[in-house]
Amino acid sequence: MSAKDSDAVVQSASDWWETSIIDIHPGEIAIRGYEIQDLIGKISFPEMIWLMTRGDLPTPSQARLLEAALVASVDHGPHAPSIAIARMASTCGISLNNAMASAINVLGDTHGGAGQDCMVLYELVRFKIDAGIRLSDAADLALAETIAAKGKIIAGFGHRFHPVDPRAAPLLSLVEAAAGQGIVGGGYVAIGREVEAAIQRRTQKPIPMNIDGATAVIFCELGFAPPMGRGLFILSRSVGILAHAWEQTTAGKRMKGPMPKDIPFTYAGPAKRKLDR
Ligand SMILES: CC(C)(COP(=O)(O)OP(=O)(O)OC[C@H]1O[C@@H](n2cnc3c(N)ncnc32)[C@H](O)[C@@H]1OP(=O)(O)O)[C@@H](O)C(=O)NCCC(=O)NCCS
Repeated sequence: MSAKDSDAVVQSASDWWETSIIDIHPGEIAIRGYEIQDLIGKISFPEMIWLMTRGDLPTPSQARLLEAALVASVDHGPHAPSIAIARMASTCGISLNNAMASAINVLGDTHGGAGQDCMVLYELVRFKIDAGIRLSDAADLALAETIAAKGKIIAGFGHRFHPVDPRAAPLLSLVEAAAGQGIVGGGYVAIGREVEAAIQRRTQKPIPMNIDGATAVIFCELGFAPPMGRGLFILSRSVGILAHAWEQTTAGKRMKGPMPKDIPFTYAGPAKRKLDR
């Protein structure tokens, strides 16, 4: 092989993992062009998340909004399936990473990952507004289309435990304040509130916005794509998952099930019968 050919082979091997996120050479680490030693101690973790996922640093106000969403979602106690799973898994003789992975794996469309679907709905409303339809009609239409495609339960609204999710209002207030200062557009907070009203128009009962609906507003306002909404929620909830997995690990209990063993579960199968053979 000629020197030219072998250079081409090395180049094509280098291009195999092309990335614009990070550059590394012996003694050098640069993230999105910034040397790591210039970032350490100078930018916050939310700013680092933004830099990593968006390519550039956020403004301080954008970082504060992202941070608020991340702070709000960290934990919902052992009633949340992800947290209960982290704790149960920790008693099964697996390590912390396995316990965390087990919990993260259930952050799906109904639990924790609902923000992604909610962002898709908000964006659908946005498209309709951009096409000249007024907000309330756009929300009604988008809701009807979403229900026809995915069923009557709207992601980002309702909560099994809280009649009103205490995390939603402070998050929306922050977005409204940021919109007042021109930091974000404010269109999605109006959309979120209108979708909540549209759900009530359809169901004739209040089904308030939950944490996923509120963080979906923030992530849309900040320009994140819907799948990133789920990713960001998972980053936040991972903190709670880690804390609970570690607390349970250090508690030393072995093989803990979903409820105390003296509480029976309900059997709904056939009555006892004889095997006829
Ligand atoms: C969170 C959730 C599972 C709680 O459900 P729940 O309190 O057990 O409520 P139920 O399933 O008992 O439903 C009660 C009623 O409200 C309705 N409802 C509940 N959440 C609804 C929603 N998000 N959209 C439309 N209707 C909803 C149900 O259809 C049901 O109506 P019905 O009695 O006429 O059948 C449910 O609201 C949901 O799936 N929300 C969307 C997913 C989501 O955002 N998850 C994140 C939660 S933090």
